[in-house]
Amino acid sequence: MADIPEKAILILGDKQYELPVVVGTEGERAIDISKLRDQSGYITYDPSLSNTGVCKSSITFIDGEKGILRYRGIPIEQFVNYPSFVRVAWMLIFGRMPTSAELAQFSELLTRHELLHESARHQFQQIPVDAPPMAILSASLNNLSYYHQQFLAFEDTESFVEAAARLISKVRTIAAFAYRRSQGLPFNYPDPKLRYCENLLHMMFSLPHQQYICTPEVVDALNLVLVLHADHEQNCSTFTVRVVGSSKANLFASCSAGVSALWGPLHGGANVKVIEMLEEIHKGGMTPEECIAESKRKESKFRLFGFGHRVYKNFDPRSRIIRDACDRVFATLKHGDPLLDIARKLEELALKDQYFIDRNLYPNVDFYSGLLLRSMGIPTNMFTVIFSIGRLPGWIAHWKEQHDDPTSRILRPRQVYVGLPENRIEAALAQAEELRKVEQSPT
Ligand code: CMC
Repeated sequence: MADIPEKAILILGDKQYELPVVVGTEGERAIDISKLRDQSGYITYDPSLSNTGVCKSSITFIDGEKGILRYRGIPIEQFVNYPSFVRVAWMLIFGRMPTSAELAQFSELLTRHELLHESARHQFQQIPVDAPPMAILSASLNNLSYYHQQFLAFEDTESFVEAAARLISKVRTIAAFAYRRSQGLPFNYPDPKLRYCENLLHMMFSLPHQQYICTPEVVDALNLVLVLHADHEQNCSTFTVRVVGSSKANLFASCSAGVSALWGPLHGGANVKVIEMLEEIHKGGMTPEECIAESKRKESKFRLFGFGHRVYKNFDPRSRIIRDACDRVFATLKHGDPLLDIARKLEELALKDQYFIDRNLYPNVDFYSGLLLRSMGIPTNMFTVIFSIGRLPGWIAHWKEQHDDPTSRILRPRQVYVGLPENRIEAALAQAEELRKVEQSPT
């Protein structure tokens, strides 16, 4: 394109540096500063990395200003007609839609690997009943390294596929076991006759005397939640997976780190906070108006959970799809959910409030996803676990993309040191002397 500058010019004092410009396939431009320090002694400063591209990726495209999300070039709106989560997972990981034979082969691998090692299953008995399921999930994914040591280092595609299939399959079993443990219920083994989402629901909800029968609406809704969460380019947890993977840590350890990052309330834990907020309003602890007012108060740590996004400065396209799915699923249920009405009220108030308008704060995926999960009988403490199951293919795809890139190096940013300077060395020595005295004195 003729109007794209080939180089950016940076002037520092009396020196001038030419920096190459990298252009993405959707015209996004980035100034390549990777050689800047070598040339000038300067680094760039971007504390939350919000203006930094850390890699080139062909997995997911987001245009936050326009509210666009595409997986492998396909708009997210095309996924509302329920292509199976397994198909979408394969597509994200391998870069194109699978053929029927490829999909059948991958599904067969998932079925073959759905069981946990019996020792791993016994380990669940030692976990405190009230342990947070996200802690169990993160630990258990890392523990897969005990049982599948042949995948701690590999270079061939076949081993990668085997490791990825184990993760995508066993994550369901682990999630369901974590739930059963918290309920004091016996574990249900996976049923090879069931499809991905049905199997998860069976392992979570079937009782020894009663097989859980799920309606097609519930299965479709769970599939949709997983598909909509399957990737979101360089979000906090995916970036974490890339950071850990960049040290050549194995796939299990990298994805386990992703779960830990996802746990936080500013990331995957937000849908839990949304439900807590809605419940508080429902209980009469505050009105929707007070909730909005509190979220705007500068001194308050409270936020309108499920609103705002680092990248979307418009509607998160996933939030609209989930809101519509909520309407569809609730229409099939005998009971409504008072929290849904409160959510709609909050959305209405926020969208016409100048504070939210000025800051481009719109509902994100988490605003309605918790309500949809509740409609399926999934308890709040499992929401982020379900999000993790959905995000796993994205983490695996990014790990693979980075692993296959011959130019990728260990991710290691720099910093601007603002601690004690060399000219205050006496103060540092005095502190060291103080420390030595403390260490020598009896405690
Ligand atoms: N409620 C009230 N004020 C908000 C909110 C909110 N939900 N989100 C942002 N703001 C304000 C913020 O206080 C700041 O105001 P000011 O300019 O006066 O200081 C301004 O908007 C810009 O916010 P920011 O903190 O710079 O935005 P960020 O890009 O650092 O954070 C966010 C993005 C998602 C962490 C934030 O919007 C937030 O905390 N939202 C609530 C938590 C949430 O819903 N998280 C789920 C994110 S989507 C799923 C995922 O990707 O994990």
